[in-house]
Amino acid sequence: METVVSGIRPTGNLHIGNYFGAIRNFIKMQEKNNCFFFIADYHSLTTHPTPQDLHGNVKQVLVEYLATGIDPEKTTLYIQSDLPETAELYLLLNMNAYLGELERVTTFKEKARKQPNNVNAGLLTYPSLMAADILIHKANKVPVGKDQEQHLEMTRTFARRFNRMYELDFFPEPTAFNFGDNLIKIPGLDGSGKMGKSEGEGNAIFLAEDPKSIRKKVMRAVTDAGPTEPNSPKAEPVENLFSLLKAVSSQDTVNFFEEQYSTCKIRYGDLKKQLAEDVINFTAPLREKILEIAANEAYLGKVAKMGAEKAHESGAKTMREIRDIIGFRKF
Ligand code: TRP
Repeated sequence: METVVSGIRPTGNLHIGNYFGAIRNFIKMQEKNNCFFFIADYHSLTTHPTPQDLHGNVKQVLVEYLATGIDPEKTTLYIQSDLPETAELYLLLNMNAYLGELERVTTFKEKARKQPNNVNAGLLTYPSLMAADILIHKANKVPVGKDQEQHLEMTRTFARRFNRMYELDFFPEPTAFNFGDNLIKIPGLDGSGKMGKSEGEGNAIFLAEDPKSIRKKVMRAVTDAGPTEPNSPKAEPVENLFSLLKAVSSQDTVNFFEEQYSTCKIRYGDLKKQLAEDVINFTAPLREKILEIAANEAYLGKVAKMGAEKAHESGAKTMREIRDIIGFRKF
């Protein structure tokens, strides 16, 4: 059985792109692996959230992961700061992490450009913290997107360095589990690119979004002037609406609008109306669960406690071994 670790930054509500992407893969993975999925609240301090933002965002992610089907019985679902051993491993890894290699990391350079007044040491050592998250459970597989591959490369470097330094085969070198072909790419509503929160207000549809707001967003989605010749190829914005339709609507509905398009009879208003209703039908049960779980503080408390205990069992064991290897001894 493989050990899988993945961290989720608490950056607010999940959208349907997240759902069809990473989340469905997490849900599949939890069946056959020893999974640790955690909410990376230490990492979020690199951007200095207020205490309310921090707690609220952690809660939102926890609620939405539970609502979408991450099962806390099958998976170790925990909050990063509930496993403070992570911070100890981070400190130890930093002793062998070099300024030069940390400064070369693309995400660091990007963040430094984006927040020039807050280029803190946490930002620089983000890869050591991420390595600590992964190595503390001796993970083999890390399901992450392309943007995280350089971080994972650093994790392997730190693992190798430790193993070489102490002449042991202690840490496995974890590899990226790339969602790849499994992943249905959900485009945004702004006509180009994938669904993402940072692309502007109307671009993403959230799982917890209310029907009225979903209708408004879908009706405002970018299209074009419409086909003028039969069987003409679709422009990107229109292709995107069809991709969304394929994700949430019945095959009959998709066929109907394909036919309308290829015979130049399509009315985008009708397509959007149908799409909005199908998105609403798709998200409604998730939204209901999200609201229900969010109101159940006792359940959330229980889940967080169970996650913390399971994470501790694994993490504390690794840390005891590491302290011993490094040479810390009790008197
Ligand atoms: N850096 C990851 C991201 O931005 C989040 C993360 C933190 C993570 N620690 C991790 C992912 C450990 C995988 C494993 O998406």
